[in-house]
Amino acid sequence: MRHLLSAGDLDHDTALLVLDTAEQMAATQQREIKKLPTLRGRTVVNLFFEDSTRTRISFEAAAKRLSADVINFSAKGSSLAKGESLKDTALTLQAMGADAVVIRHQASGAPHRLATAGWVHGCVVNAGDGTHEHPTQALLDAVTMRHHLVGMRRPGAAAGRDLAGRRVLIVGDVLHSRVARSNVLLLHTLGADVTLVAPPTLLPVGVDSWPCATSYDLDASLPGADAVMMLRVQAERMHAAYFPSAREYSRRYGLDARRLRLLDEHTIVMHPGPMNRGLEISADAADCARSTIVEQVGNGVSVRMAVLYLLLAGSADEGIR
Ligand code: ASP
Ligand code: CP
Repeated sequence: MRHLLSAGDLDHDTALLVLDTAEQMAATQQREIKKLPTLRGRTVVNLFFEDSTRTRISFEAAAKRLSADVINFSAKGSSLAKGESLKDTALTLQAMGADAVVIRHQASGAPHRLATAGWVHGCVVNAGDGTHEHPTQALLDAVTMRHHLVGMRRPGAAAGRDLAGRRVLIVGDVLHSRVARSNVLLLHTLGADVTLVAPPTLLPVGVDSWPCATSYDLDASLPGADAVMMLRVQAERMHAAYFPSAREYSRRYGLDARRLRLLDEHTIVMHPGPMNRGLEISADAADCARSTIVEQVGNGVSVRMAVLYLLLAGSADEGIR
């Protein structure tokens, strides 16, 4: 594989290779000198057409820790404001020599277009496209779940390197969430049982064909879950009323102190960030001992190091390439 466009592109072995490599990368980050020489002489371009804090910074940190040269492009302040197209932007970057292009774009499918149109010759990594996919987020979520849940033995669940038999709830604005789609695909590959919990208005048409279950009832779904992943209500993508009021949404689908008490002792609470505190997640839930939200961000650096390493340095036999 030359690009990482969708979590669905990763078969079971490749997904485990990325997760194991991310763990090795994390171990190197405990050393006093964090920089590895692996990608010396390679250029990684971060092409961000949409806002980002975590993803943009962690791709930059990941590339720099592997000694790559990094060029950061963000739509604000660029010639996009003068009407330049994605194609011409890509051709410009290619002329400067990009070995990998990390792209976040508001249009679903933009990374795919970049990878297949021949505008850039390097690897393309999808850092979030519209409401479609965010594969490195799903990978860092899986690293986090493995860390907390795989050492744990659940009756009936085999010990192993994947997430077989683990029960994951993904809760909230599934309709607008590329995180949900990528997580469903990757978690299915890793053997987890996923349930999407949302009001009917925030479940996409065609969700019946996704490899997961669905529910409208959060309270009934919480007991027995191993991980509860809350999704941000993506107001910037909503052009209609999807629920009666913020208060009503929180009452039906928010994770708060009362709902925390319905969780099993080992259950972890996740959120990709950024959070709407007080809407989909209360401060009690975001900051509780079982919350992995800050840890997820940290795992983002090692996962992105692993992805860049496997795409740019791995051989056909060895890696994701
Ligand atoms: N940061 C994630 C994304 O870009 C999730 C979110 O924005 O809600 O998809
Ligand atoms: N989780 C995530 O992708 O965060 P950013 O939008 O801040 O990159």
